[in-house]
Amino acid sequence: MPQKPDTSAVTAGRDDSRSLAPALWPSTVWETANMDDATARATGMRSETFYSRYANPTVTQFERAIATLEQAESALAFSSGMGAISSVVLALCSKGSHVVAQNNLYGATLSFLQGPCARFGIETTFVDPSVPGAFEAAVIPGRTALVVAETPSNPRLGITDLAELGRIKGPFSVVDSTLATPLGQRPLDFGVDLVLHSATKGLGGHNDALLGVVAGERDLIDAVWGYAVMHGAIASPHDALNGLRGIKTLAVRLNHQNVSTLRIARRLESHAAVERVWHPFLDSHPQTGLARGQMRLGGTMLSVELKGGIDACRKFLSALSLARVATSFGGPETLVCHPATSTHVGLSVEALAAMGVTDSLVRFSVGLEDPEDLCAEIEVALS
Ligand SMILES: Cc1ncc(COP(=O)(O)O)c(C=O)c1O
Repeated sequence: MPQKPDTSAVTAGRDDSRSLAPALWPSTVWETANMDDATARATGMRSETFYSRYANPTVTQFERAIATLEQAESALAFSSGMGAISSVVLALCSKGSHVVAQNNLYGATLSFLQGPCARFGIETTFVDPSVPGAFEAAVIPGRTALVVAETPSNPRLGITDLAELGRIKGPFSVVDSTLATPLGQRPLDFGVDLVLHSATKGLGGHNDALLGVVAGERDLIDAVWGYAVMHGAIASPHDALNGLRGIKTLAVRLNHQNVSTLRIARRLESHAAVERVWHPFLDSHPQTGLARGQMRLGGTMLSVELKGGIDACRKFLSALSLARVATSFGGPETLVCHPATSTHVGLSVEALAAMGVTDSLVRFSVGLEDPEDLCAEIEVALS
């Protein structure tokens, strides 16, 4: 019977072993029956019991679960979100290829495209994703191999129009959907070719798994695998196990966190020490109509511009204790960071300006605490 997404999160990736908890297969290598069997496994697609850089049963179970949630034919896991992003770009591009990417991507993705990719002869045109038609206008027919987007964007929560990406003909499109998770939005439904996640964040959900994953049509994922098995940024079975555990509680965590995030965001909007609040489902967000049209949930991240610049941010962060000062997001604890001096440090002034990362910007990843406790602490810290 068809299942609603929250139910799929509980059942996704189940195998027929009758064990309700997934099995951990730590082995890096499996015996082969004879030389012919070894050849078959060495040359087969994603042979599951050969050598764990090719595939591993626990990792495969995590990949199946993601494919179910994204309603994709196939998925491929990596040792981190950056492992997924770099492998997809290097699998699908060659020297001389052209990439179109939005100018407010996660900092390391931006640095990867501007640094190593440029060095290897892969040229990127960066576009403002809030300008209708900007991606398509930058595509060079016959040369653009890939269109790279991220929505919502980290940390300013800009929204990229998924339907517009899905309509682009020629290059493959890939969407970093980390902030939304598969329960928050499904880019493949809009015609996008590949969706990827840093599963280190909400999917894993407990700050104990460094993990990435990409999902899409089987042929395309197989092509990425053909490169990834040499690149070697392969997910560990231990992390995949933690990823599977995270997925089972994803719905209940997200539902709680999304309600809390919106409540805190609305409370902050009316605070005298706050200049501006950013969250996709706030009425004041300039793209909230687009966000509501393509997302089931608005997400667990919010950003605020504080009055008083970097000094105010410094004082605010040092006055918090229930909310922890840390850079990641999507876990049980509420985390707060100052992107300009942490996650986005080292980016050029122009890049920071393009993505709206100012000295006054503070990012919140709202966790599982009671939102009233968080609001109380935040109000004291702001005062
Ligand atoms: C939107 C986004 N994509 C990708 C990544 C990279 O993920 P990882 O740290 O798992 O490599 C991050 C990390 O913060 C991120 O925020």
